[in-house]
Amino acid sequence: MCGIVGYCGKKPLGISVVLDGLQALEYRGYDSAGLCYAQDGSLVLDKQVGRVQALRDSLGSPAPDSATAIGHTRWATHGTPTQTNAHPHFNAGKTIMVVHNGIIENHAEIREKLSGLGYSFVSETDTEVIPHLLDYYRKKSQNFTEAFEKVLKQLRGAYGLLALTTEEPNTLFAARLGSPLVLGVMDDGAYIVASDPAALLAHTKKVVYLNDHEFVVAEQGEDYEIRDLLRDTSVDRAIEKLDFDANEISKGDYEHFMIKEIYEAPQTIRMATLGRIRPKEGIVKLGGLDSVADQLKYIDRIVIVACGTSYYAGLVGEYLIEEIAGIPVEVALASEFKYRHEPFSRSTALLAISQSGETADTIAALKKVENFGVLRLGVVNAVGSTIARMTDAGVYCHAGPEQAVASTKAFIAQVSILTQIALYLSQGTELYKPLLDELDALPKKVETVLESADAIREIAKKYVNNRDFLFIGRRYGYPSALEGALKLKEISYIHAEGYAAGEMKHGPLAMIDESFPTFAIATASELLEKTYSNIEEIRARKGPVVAVATEGNEHITSLADDVMYVPATLEQTSPLLVAIVMQLFSYYVAVEKKLDVDKPRNLAKSVTVE
Ligand code: F6R
Repeated sequence: MCGIVGYCGKKPLGISVVLDGLQALEYRGYDSAGLCYAQDGSLVLDKQVGRVQALRDSLGSPAPDSATAIGHTRWATHGTPTQTNAHPHFNAGKTIMVVHNGIIENHAEIREKLSGLGYSFVSETDTEVIPHLLDYYRKKSQNFTEAFEKVLKQLRGAYGLLALTTEEPNTLFAARLGSPLVLGVMDDGAYIVASDPAALLAHTKKVVYLNDHEFVVAEQGEDYEIRDLLRDTSVDRAIEKLDFDANEISKGDYEHFMIKEIYEAPQTIRMATLGRIRPKEGIVKLGGLDSVADQLKYIDRIVIVACGTSYYAGLVGEYLIEEIAGIPVEVALASEFKYRHEPFSRSTALLAISQSGETADTIAALKKVENFGVLRLGVVNAVGSTIARMTDAGVYCHAGPEQAVASTKAFIAQVSILTQIALYLSQGTELYKPLLDELDALPKKVETVLESADAIREIAKKYVNNRDFLFIGRRYGYPSALEGALKLKEISYIHAEGYAAGEMKHGPLAMIDESFPTFAIATASELLEKTYSNIEEIRARKGPVVAVATEGNEHITSLADDVMYVPATLEQTSPLLVAIVMQLFSYYVAVEKKLDVDKPRNLAKSVTVE
């Protein structure tokens, strides 16, 4: 949510490094973009409504020469997406400029105080208070660093922010509280700071992750200094190495990131299980949980917290862990969990699931139990992210960077990991070996589903003009239905609702008529006959039905208008195959509607504000 990038190094690179970084972060926010750069003792500003390309066009080619620049791609929180509200924001003399990701909760109070002191504001944003406050404190401080520190101590809320000043044009001032920030260290004495490592990957793999309440001052050619605001001390933190390559964040020959990421599913399962499942020996080895193996023996309840697609993966995990490991599981939306007042015992483990590892609500859920003495576990994709670092132990997804706003391969990785966690925690069940073997066999089955993409596209075309869609399923098909509905609505803007099939008669059936199709998950399961009955009830109300069924099921063709098949699999692994069908279906509906699949309206990847 909002991307920020800053560079201090050598001419003429400043602007191009920042523009390329912003382009890599555009999936985090795309309603406006802006940057400022140091030139001949001044800070020059350019802000444009729309995409990073608009900013690029405005700067022209070649871009102006500069050694230092900071930039921002915005997802509006306070104030509409206009040029004035776009970042960077500045003080009256335009000697201080700031880009910010997050929300300054006490901005109204600061604005009032500064207005009383004669400061005037041009934008509707919360961010604009920061450069004015910097200006105010600069006049009362020895140097800019001291002013920066004073300002940070005044701000409440969340920020990942970067500041530039004409006084020290070769220096980046950056700070973090509740919003990710990473410093990239280059061999030639240059630095990059960004809200996501994707922005610096093309230039360096050497990174230092900042923690909350820390700020960094990095001057080109000099050592950088990280300071802890709470303890008033310098922080000595080891440089880490990024473990992914720049080509992992390019679309390659694909038209969209989303389809590329859907096609990565077989590899995603292979990576999520690599070195972890050993079908021949009949074991699952999760190194990330070994350090807490003794504690896990005493866990008698697991609460999974997550948002969106990760929450739906958690719901699949609930079925899996309860059935395979026999441990009661509750899945909570992180945004609700953090405000609940439920009793919590020490034998409960909290398991956070997150692709980005930066989702504000999920972080808040983990923080809430900080002092309860409960074990905090993570299933996270982004290595080194906040959630990965906050948890006591966890299992990385290893899905590689996910760029499309709609999550696809991360869901596949999360469900693969949760299956392994269920097996790891199992004390023995007759499903253990078949499930382990099936997980091993799954990448090939996913490949088979991908081969039917053209057939799915043809079916998707028929439903492009529908305004509503229902998704139904039972047991493992139920979270799949919820996720299918989310995928369709977020990228195609078709109203879609997911329901447990057994709930149809308790309300949703009232909506069904010939214009309201249902996507029924009718893969092999003990409850398939019951799903057939639900489909019959929909047909009796003239509702069109699209079904996803197991290969060889011919009966379904007499019930559904359209059928998409997946290879036979266990019910427990069916969400992994069904998800691919639904992802492809939603993708092709959105493509047919000529929508911006990777960057759906009003959304952004990585929701770092509440
Ligand atoms: C939907 C989607 C979102 C995310 C949610 C959680 O396609 O991408 O619903 O799943 O914002 O994000 P993470 O997993 O990064 O915590």
